[in-house]
Amino acid sequence: MSAEIIDGKEISAYIKQQAADRAKACAAAGRAPCLAVILVGDDPASQVYVRNKHRACEACGVTSLQYALPADTTQEALLALIGKLNADDAVDGILCQLPLPEHLDETAVTDAVAPEKDVDGFHPVNVGKMLSGKDCFLPCTPAGVIEMLKYKKIPIAGKHAVVIGRSNIVGKPAAALLLRENATVTVCHSRTANLPEIVKTADIVVAAVGRPGFVTADMLKPGCAVIDVGINRLPDGSLAGDVDFAAAKEIAGFITPVPGGVGPMTIAMLMMNTVKSAEKRSGKGDF
Ligand code: GUN
Repeated sequence: MSAEIIDGKEISAYIKQQAADRAKACAAAGRAPCLAVILVGDDPASQVYVRNKHRACEACGVTSLQYALPADTTQEALLALIGKLNADDAVDGILCQLPLPEHLDETAVTDAVAPEKDVDGFHPVNVGKMLSGKDCFLPCTPAGVIEMLKYKKIPIAGKHAVVIGRSNIVGKPAAALLLRENATVTVCHSRTANLPEIVKTADIVVAAVGRPGFVTADMLKPGCAVIDVGINRLPDGSLAGDVDFAAAKEIAGFITPVPGGVGPMTIAMLMMNTVKSAEKRSGKGDF
């Protein structure tokens, strides 16, 4: 039996439509939501991501401010720009595309964004609120993972969710959000002793390792849901996830493809966070 494919393009279109409707209401009430995106340097993957964010803004009726800074931008200059955007009442969301060039301090940059404009959900205030279950900006990729499961009506509460990877932007927050949905959560990482045995007991597998084909079909429990967060560029230029998709889809009950799975969800959730920020900052609505 072949798994049902979880179509990130379909689900992200549904979310973006909601964001667009709400952005339109904001515009009618005075001002369209506004997202400022900062890109430092010329990393080709980051350039693609930033271009896609700009296009999504256009499609959703969100004003997009783009700041392309040279690779040798100083920490002071970058912090000064963030400070200016923090103080600009017309800006609802600020996103500094990661990774930054080596000489810049990513933590200091993340911490400099005003928490109420932190549509990435990376600021320690928002991370803390997320962990304690308060309303806040949720990080876009992990929030997108939860939306996909909910859209497909895949039960989370009481299920065993195994997250592979413990990065600050995907693995750790994905574990926190699954826990918030009452899953029993295990986080596996490079030092986990018996990873295949643990994954084998998972009802939900979230793969965020950054290694193509890391999750093989023999690790999966038949019928499980597999969410592949990996985006790996292969030597031939094609994209592959962290999961051996062709073999895994014969075992899993649900599976996300790469591309066309989690990737589009990240941008849809960013649009939603920006719209929510605009609503909140104009005194309308909460998260
Ligand atoms: N780089 C990879 N993913 C992300 C993300 O979600 N936000 C930012 N700012 N940079 C990223």
